[in-house]
Amino acid sequence: KRKVLVLTGGGDCPGLNAVIRGIVKRARTESDWEVIGSMEAFNGVMKEPMELMDLNEKTTAGIHVKGGTILKTTNKGNPFDFPVKQPDGTYKIEDRSGELIDRLKSIGVEAVISIGGDGSQRISQMLYEKGVNIIGVPKTIDNDLSGTDFTFGFRTAVQIATDSFDKLVTTAESHHRVMIMEVMGRGAGWIALHTAIAGGAEVCLIPEIPYDIKKVVERLNQRYNEGKGFAHIVVAEGAVPIEGTVTSRESKEIGYEHKRLGGVAYRLSDQLKEAGCEADIRETVLGHTQRGGTPIAFDRILATMFGVKAFELVLKGSYGTMVSYKNNKITSVSLKEATSEYNTINTSSFMVHAARSIGISFGD
Ligand code: F6P
Repeated sequence: KRKVLVLTGGGDCPGLNAVIRGIVKRARTESDWEVIGSMEAFNGVMKEPMELMDLNEKTTAGIHVKGGTILKTTNKGNPFDFPVKQPDGTYKIEDRSGELIDRLKSIGVEAVISIGGDGSQRISQMLYEKGVNIIGVPKTIDNDLSGTDFTFGFRTAVQIATDSFDKLVTTAESHHRVMIMEVMGRGAGWIALHTAIAGGAEVCLIPEIPYDIKKVVERLNQRYNEGKGFAHIVVAEGAVPIEGTVTSRESKEIGYEHKRLGGVAYRLSDQLKEAGCEADIRETVLGHTQRGGTPIAFDRILATMFGVKAFELVLKGSYGTMVSYKNNKITSVSLKEATSEYNTINTSSFMVHAARSIGISFGD
């Protein structure tokens, strides 16, 4: 039988299992194909013995409802930067892409479907340039991948964040507090912007619009002066103050640094106090809850369609492409295009305009 290998790479995301199931169900109708999975991205193929999973109707039954990925995942599975254990116990980074390609050939893999974010799609493009028949499926709750209007998992994350926001409202009101809620998004503020509008925040801080802390305090004071004794700030983990204006790629790194230091929410809280905010402030960092649990219906559907499309691209031999959702249609784009830039918020879009119109300040 002809073999297609499926893997999930990078951070997990609600909907990954629905993609896997979509691929398997579509492949079932082509009797000459079989689907296998590599455990923990490409690491499953690189291990001795290999860690592979037979993906069939039985092993994928009902998994579209479950979060996470039955294939497991890792951020440390890049065959071009592969950590190889040395005799002294330390690790050396080596390019093992050649070995990976040989290993894929040795088990008769004809095509690969790689489900992953920006990093995974870059790896796919590099493997494609080395002759691997590969198709990408975009995945990220951050929605920061270009080449597609939406990624699955994003709307689930927004729903989780909005539900949490709603819970913060009653306690903020009871205590006359300013609530800071930190959401994911190191290089783009999609989750923050959507949640701020859905929840009804007064302030939304995103990487695309560097904030001036004085402006944030002004908006909070205005709110308190109106007699509303509580307020909400939604902040993306990659948000930066005006002095530190950076590119979205740099802000991804800043997001990690913020995390290491204990979250941007706490730093923002200190900055607000220093800038003269007198209200009682509390911080909530949603963290990985945004990536956990069951995907909402929209994401299950989008992910299933992505899976079906990915297998159809294999059937057509349209390699070097990534499945995409554009203008309400499931289509595909070249991996090169998909990895050429980030999908960040257009600050003159109607959504940002609408947010401003309903009184949301971006601190600018
Ligand atoms: O890319 C999705 C994302 O959830 C980011 O928003 C977040 O900063 C990052 O992954 C965290 O991933 P991990 O903790 O798995 O390294």
